Amino acid sequence: MTDAFGREIYYLRLSVTERCNLRCRYCMPADGICKKSHEDMLTEDEMILAVEAAAALGFKKLRITGGEPLVKKNLLSICSRAAAVDGIEEICLTTNGTLLPHLAKPLREAGVSRVNISLDTLDREKYAYMTRRGALSSALAGIESAIDAGFTRIKINTVLIGGFNDNEICDLAALTVNYPVDVRFIELMPMDGSRGFDQAAMLPCETVLDRLPELKPIEAGDGVARLYRLPGARGNIGLISPVSRHFCAACNRIRLTADGKLRPCLHSSAEYSIKGLDFDGMVEQFQKAVLGKPMCHGELSAVKRSGAGRMMNRIGG
Ligand code: 5AD
Ligand code: SF4
Repeated sequence: MTDAFGREIYYLRLSVTERCNLRCRYCMPADGICKKSHEDMLTEDEMILAVEAAAALGFKKLRITGGEPLVKKNLLSICSRAAAVDGIEEICLTTNGTLLPHLAKPLREAGVSRVNISLDTLDREKYAYMTRRGALSSALAGIESAIDAGFTRIKINTVLIGGFNDNEICDLAALTVNYPVDVRFIELMPMDGSRGFDQAAMLPCETVLDRLPELKPIEAGDGVARLYRLPGARGNIGLISPVSRHFCAACNRIRLTADGKLRPCLHSSAEYSIKGLDFDGMVEQFQKAVLGKPMCHGELSAVKRSGAGRMMNRIGG
């Protein structure tokens, strides 16, 4: 479907849960989320109906997010039913990877074609600090299990954080030499969950180019990352700069939160509820949400924070 500014919107990011087994400091508060009652969240059937409504409007790409999608009990059923929806060509999933060792193969069998795995550091103590409870070994085992399960074009998502992992840029980038994966550096966004981070933590992606002068630019696809490659590498380095150079003009997506709100823009609190609606009602809300997409979000910085009004785990990472 085309929005009011001529952009083709065909990519739905579906958050299947707000819950997560980690508590990353830029995403969630230490004490987690206030538990919502079951009735407020989308049921599996409603999620599938929403995917069908989106597909009827020409959406063809679906990403499953959270929270952490792998803590969702009926995840495999959601994925396989969504994969069977007419018009959906590709299902991707974003995960912290720690639960992938058990789920990588079943997810692939359920029709998930690609996975993005979050990894901000290769240091055991720093990983435990940033996630407040995670084990680096689990995340690394998750990456290996994704490779073993036969996923291709695996992407490692690294949030670039000044004073935390900028001294690891070379080591993280070297993963693309040793493994068949892409590594994407993402600028830390000033969301509600990341209030503990100041301007010094918000490094521009240009830092990566400064640290790795041997990076060669390559042709980018339809995504939001600028792509580069290290000599002899098996995967690409991607730079995603939502703060220093926003990509609103190329935006092709809307989000659906686990509690059934369509969000036309990550940095706006505008939302359209589909909870409890039938197919026609959902189609109508999708149309409103796409036509309600703003042209652009405002400037983002430590003092000009995102207008999202929700933590990332409650929107969909
Ligand atoms: N800035 C940038 N990325 C974030 N994520 C969560 N919070 C932020 C933030 N403040 C992203 C991370 C993580 C995914 C689940 O959500 O990339 O990998
Ligand atoms: Fe969980 Fe991802 Fe948020 Fe970390 S960033 S707390 S892994 S949802």
